[in-house]
Amino acid sequence: MGNGRSSYPLIGVLLLAVVGYFNWSGGGVDPSRLRIPIPWLQPPMSFVGRNGTRFVLLRAEGGGSGGGGEAPSVYVNGWNSYWLMAAAASQGRRGRETVAEMLRRGRDMGMEVCRTWAFSDGGRGGGAALQISPGRFDEQVFQALDYVIYEARRNQVRLILCLVNNLEAFGGKAQYIRWAQEAGVNLTSADDPFFSHPVIRGFYKDYIKAILRRRNSYSGVLYSDEPAIFAWELMNEPRCSSNSSAPLLQAWIAEMAAHIKSIDQKHLVTVGLEGFYGSKRAERLGVNPGDWAGSLGSDFIQNSAVQNIDFASAHAYPDSWIPNAGLEEKVEYLASWVDYHVNDGERILKKPVLITEIGSYLKVNEQGLYERDVLLKTAYDKVYKSAEKGQAGAGALIWQLILEGIEEQYGDKFSLVAEKYPSTDKLIRQQSCRLRYLLRRNQTDDKPGWPC
Ligand SMILES: *[C@@H]1O[C@H](CO)[C@@H](O)[C@H](O)[C@H]1NC(C)=O
Ligand SMILES: *[C@@H]1O[C@H](CO)[C@@H](O)[C@H](O)[C@H]1NC(C)=O
Ligand SMILES: *[C@@H]1O[C@H](CO)[C@@H](O)[C@H](O)[C@H]1NC(C)=O
Ligand SMILES: *[C@@H]1O[C@H](CO)[C@@H](O)[C@H](O)[C@H]1NC(C)=O
Repeated sequence: MGNGRSSYPLIGVLLLAVVGYFNWSGGGVDPSRLRIPIPWLQPPMSFVGRNGTRFVLLRAEGGGSGGGGEAPSVYVNGWNSYWLMAAAASQGRRGRETVAEMLRRGRDMGMEVCRTWAFSDGGRGGGAALQISPGRFDEQVFQALDYVIYEARRNQVRLILCLVNNLEAFGGKAQYIRWAQEAGVNLTSADDPFFSHPVIRGFYKDYIKAILRRRNSYSGVLYSDEPAIFAWELMNEPRCSSNSSAPLLQAWIAEMAAHIKSIDQKHLVTVGLEGFYGSKRAERLGVNPGDWAGSLGSDFIQNSAVQNIDFASAHAYPDSWIPNAGLEEKVEYLASWVDYHVNDGERILKKPVLITEIGSYLKVNEQGLYERDVLLKTAYDKVYKSAEKGQAGAGALIWQLILEGIEEQYGDKFSLVAEKYPSTDKLIRQQSCRLRYLLRRNQTDDKPGWPC
């Protein structure tokens, strides 16, 4: 929508520039960059939307991609760096530079989507808290998130922003439960009340509202108006303690997705699922990596079918899911895992499916081959084939990229500094480029400095 381009007199611009100047000189923010929080001064970018089983690039406001006809399809090559806000918040200026560098490197590899955490609850098990207690925010940390989004836009990268964790890192479900208990709520069980208790659902809905209504202090753009946000993700890997909680999770997804849409109609919404099939879906139980996966209260099809959920997701960790299998077996498993999900997206859900995490250990086999590359290529090939046919397999995001010097803080056994592994780095770039050529995106929005 219009940002009142013509209604800002020049004097206002100058005044805001001066305010921006004092902002950075006082706030410990990267002084190499003047902060001018005026929406229409931000780099042009269009929203990503959906047409049936495909993501599409919506026309930029005020023209841009020109021409009439169908919206161009988007097939994603992307990555995870969950730690961007934490890094930007914890290390002052150096942290901001780390974030800028990661986004620049991702873009230089031709990747257009990065998935990252837009939460840090309570300040335990992770970095500084964004949400100190229900509804109370640390402004410095919020500005770190502002910066991540602002810098993503400058690099023409879109973000999948996840809103809470199932796991305890950065607070998660467990923190919300502690908050409820501190508020005097009598909770008898450990984690499922997160999905069902009205007090906790209220906390989470308030959190969503605060995020979506935030005005970015760097760009002046409301989060709900920001095209550099690809999608909102309800939770990282939602699970219940048993499958008897499945109806609670299902109702929670419907309620929270509707809540987001009531505030923000511009962005896509996804659940954040690992993609397991539930215990009642007998015909798919063989696709799960083990019996355990069917009894976590989630079901890929039922959960993703919720009306306000725009696309489905699956994660893929053959090395930890079937640790005793050989490489060949893992490749076969991964290929079939992706096929089932893409086909379900195509035929049953009629929505795009993103592999939002694909991770493997660094391992070299007897031929000197990185097994990680083989697995990654398996997923990439599936996405490419899907893109060729215009199908629902909408992209894959490697878990996770990191930079030198912060591995100890934010690394895990799946992390890599891409530059240290030329074969993996090349594979990622090739995926970016072949998708790009296939979709002829060079005709519509060429981005200088990209590898192809
Ligand atoms: C959506 O896709 C259909 C089928 O490919 C196409 O006919 C239609 O023009 C598309 N709509 C837009 C808005 O791109
Ligand atoms: C909490 O709830 C349980 C079960 O509903 C009940 O037995 C218990 O007395 C309650 N405790 C308090 C302090 O109200
Ligand atoms: C939960 O899962 C187990 C095994 O996975 C199954 O036997 C049981 O019927 C399931 N219960 C419900 C309520 O779906
Ligand atoms: C875009 O790339 C394709 C494949 O390399 C090429 O054939 C086409 O001419 C390019 N289009 C433009 C406008 O550069």
